[in-house]
Amino acid sequence: MGVIGAGPSGLVACKTLAQFGLPYTAYEAGERVGGQWVLDNSSGSSVAYRSLRTNTAKRICRYADYPLPDHYPAFPGHEQMAEYFDSYARHFRLHAQIRFGTRVLEARPRERGGYELLLGGGERVEHDALIVAVGNLWEPEWPEFEGEFSGPLIHAKDYRDPGDPVDCRGRKVLVIGLGNTACELAVELSKSDSASRVYLSARSGQYILPKIDTAIPHPSDPLDFPFSWLPRGIRDALFRIFFPRAMGRVFARLPAPESLGLPAPPADFFEKRFVMNDHLFERLAEGGILPKPGVRSLSGNWVEFSDGSREAVDVIIAATGYRFSLPFLSDAVLGCTAEELSLFRGVMHPRRHDLFVIGVMRAICSIWPRSEQQMAFVAPLLAGQYALPSRAEIDRESYRILEVPFGNCQFHTADLRRELKRGRKRMAKKNSAGG
Ligand SMILES: Cc1cc2nc3c(=O)[nH]c(=O)nc-3n(C[C@H](O)[C@H](O)[C@H](O)COP(=O)(O)OP(=O)(O)OC[C@H]3O[C@@H](n4cnc5c(N)ncnc54)[C@H](O)[C@@H]3O)c2cc1C
Ligand SMILES: NC(=O)c1ccc[n+]([C@@H]2O[C@H](COP(=O)([O-])OP(=O)(O)OC[C@H]3O[C@@H](n4cnc5c(N)ncnc54)[C@H](OP(=O)(O)O)[C@@H]3O)[C@@H](O)[C@H]2O)c1
Repeated sequence: MGVIGAGPSGLVACKTLAQFGLPYTAYEAGERVGGQWVLDNSSGSSVAYRSLRTNTAKRICRYADYPLPDHYPAFPGHEQMAEYFDSYARHFRLHAQIRFGTRVLEARPRERGGYELLLGGGERVEHDALIVAVGNLWEPEWPEFEGEFSGPLIHAKDYRDPGDPVDCRGRKVLVIGLGNTACELAVELSKSDSASRVYLSARSGQYILPKIDTAIPHPSDPLDFPFSWLPRGIRDALFRIFFPRAMGRVFARLPAPESLGLPAPPADFFEKRFVMNDHLFERLAEGGILPKPGVRSLSGNWVEFSDGSREAVDVIIAATGYRFSLPFLSDAVLGCTAEELSLFRGVMHPRRHDLFVIGVMRAICSIWPRSEQQMAFVAPLLAGQYALPSRAEIDRESYRILEVPFGNCQFHTADLRRELKRGRKRMAKKNSAGG
């Protein structure tokens, strides 16, 4: 088997394949394990900044069989998380099977199944199946505006701190976006020794919650939903009714974003993932961050906003998110672009049963425990312990991984477990019919 990427998802792929006795080689473009959590990862794909901490609580952002150290705080920093992933890889002896500094440039399907990989350096290797674990948060989504800005305009991907790579200290900075990144950067830049003025431009609204709020349910907690045993359609419909009601009680205790100058959150509660930030409301209320609507145009160092107001700024940071791409798999191989990708049960290509993508989902829970559950499904399939359902069912149960409304992450896990059980039964039946 070939595993592409040795971030949090790739590591658990390696560990699970080994547990099932499946030989594998992993290819990692960088020199270390840990993906996003390795600041300035030599692979160039980490977007971490110096002040980055998890926004998923310590009790949930861990592998099931490897706890985070007791002395870690509730929301560990990137260095601690990178250390944790390295220690996980050492504990399960994964390093030896990972080829570091090796980027996969192309994956070409073989006629007899499996793939030929072209590696950086020109070497070609072959694998019977591929597990793609390259993440989806490293290719910047650049905004396009009318006009030109004369000062530095960077994407948040390159931001490390208020002085790196652009000196924002004592200057007027515009942060564009209202995701977790934009909110964290605006708060950091608004601190007293940093930018002289911080504008936060949001073209649309967001639900914003404090991350250290202890109210239950908290969005990063896997919810113990009482109807998990029901058929999927009914269960999901009930979840769409009850989850907003439960969360509504939490939001009722918080300021309405509109009261602080931000756009109203979307009418559809499930349209966007929540933002978690403990300081944004306070900084807006104190005037440390000045809210602005969407950008209309740029001219010299002037920015015009959609409400007609204009501000002169020195630096612009586009915290406008990321695109999902798989540059080593052509659209012809995928049958669509990466962003349009539909996968059986969110993990397997519906036509290529030897191609798996893990760790890419629209979730508000922690990612690597989900990747762990995805691998608990993929490894038995690859080990021949699970038989796939009919083509019609594969099609029915394939969905666009980046489009599903987020929900209780436990549902995804429960669905995979249920399907694994059914597939094991199908396999037993097949074996007994054959023998
Ligand atoms: C700023 C930020 C904060 C986040 N905070 C949280 C959080 O608090 N909790 C949470 O659960 N999630 C969080 N996430 C989501 C994040 O995606 C996960 O934390 C996690 O990093 C996903 O792991 P991964 O292994 O799937 O992807 P990544 O961490 O992106 O790792 C992918 C690996 O693949 C390698 N790679 C890429 N392309 C190739 C190639 N062609 N050949 C070889 N190797 C390749 C990369 O070098 C990298 O090591 C955050 C994301 C961002 C951007
Ligand atoms: N501490 C942490 O753990 C932490 C910190 C940062 C990020 N993260 C995670 O990293 C991931 C990425 O977060 P992110 O905030 O970088 O990206 P994001 O969640 O995709 O948010 C992007 C923001 O930019 C806006 N935007 C996008 N294109 C735009 C355009 N052309 N013009 C104007 N605005 C535009 C979006 O507005 P619309 O909604 O209108 O499209 C949105 O507000 C998320 O999973 C997040 O949870 C975690």
